[in-house]
Amino acid sequence: MAKCWSEYFQLPELLEYSRRYMLTQEMRELITTHMLIHDGETILEVGCGTGYLSRYLSHSRKNLSLTGIDLDQKFLSMAEQFTKQEGLHNISYIQANANALPFAAHSFDHVVSHTFLTSTQTPLLALSEMHRVVKPGGSISSITPMSIMPTVLEEGCYPPDCSYITRYKILFEKVWQMYERINPLADYINAVDSGKVPQMFVREGLKEISLFPIGYAFSFSDASYSRAAREQYIDLCYQDEAKKFEHFIALGGWKKFLTSEEVREYRQLLQEKKAYLQQHLDDNSIFEWNGRANIMVTGRA
Ligand SMILES: C[S@@+](CC[C@H](N)C(=O)[O-])C[C@H]1O[C@@H](n2cnc3c(N)ncnc32)[C@H](O)[C@@H]1O
Repeated sequence: MAKCWSEYFQLPELLEYSRRYMLTQEMRELITTHMLIHDGETILEVGCGTGYLSRYLSHSRKNLSLTGIDLDQKFLSMAEQFTKQEGLHNISYIQANANALPFAAHSFDHVVSHTFLTSTQTPLLALSEMHRVVKPGGSISSITPMSIMPTVLEEGCYPPDCSYITRYKILFEKVWQMYERINPLADYINAVDSGKVPQMFVREGLKEISLFPIGYAFSFSDASYSRAAREQYIDLCYQDEAKKFEHFIALGGWKKFLTSEEVREYRQLLQEKKAYLQQHLDDNSIFEWNGRANIMVTGRA
């Protein structure tokens, strides 16, 4: 099976969960309006992952017809499952490459994507394909993060009894270096900075280009989220990192970056971190944030 995003970047479960906080219910009307979407239109989502954006948009206007494409079958299976669970009948998913979309020219009123153009090897080619399949006068919208790395606040935000954090941060840096250097999909994360997306739209010949910022923040200690939501987030973060780490170890090549002792220690520290965060769920003492700014760029064909 081809090396895929769901193995080397995010588990489908964590991808799906994090999207709930990136694309909130409160923002739906604004996002849909800025995407220029109206009742009864056809939408293609490129690099749809677990289909969160398609499902999110499907509730925004009447009688929309949506299609999601992605290379990663694991994500698509999950997308199908969620769509069924939500009782939606207006979204279909197809495994396809964004660089050669299996649609005739001018097939859709809108083409949208979320964290895709910054996460694909050939964003210019993908954008030209998106342009080819959108109808004249239709729109293309891309939402991408200003930074791919989760932003974690500095030391000092952890209580004095937190024994794992100093060592964890040192090892996490090393593990990330390994991820970046031996990732079989490394070109993806180096694809394009989101600041360049508006220029890509200009270069592609799109008109009436507009920008719309979308902020996002989630914290283990944010009292505005339910206890169950925070608990689930801690668990998913643990599972995600633990599985991803093992996928990379299985690739070989890690010895240039880590000793066997460090590999053992990192596994142990991940467990300690999970246990510690769970113990401190209710006291708001750990301000570890995952937050970022996204920009949405929209242009007319
Ligand atoms: C960061 S994930 C975003 C997934 C989803 N849009 C979301 O935000 O939840 C990037 C996605 O782009 C997909 N992808 C990357 N290059 C692709 C290509 N050439 N054709 C189709 N999908 C691609 C990956 O498989 C992955 O699902």
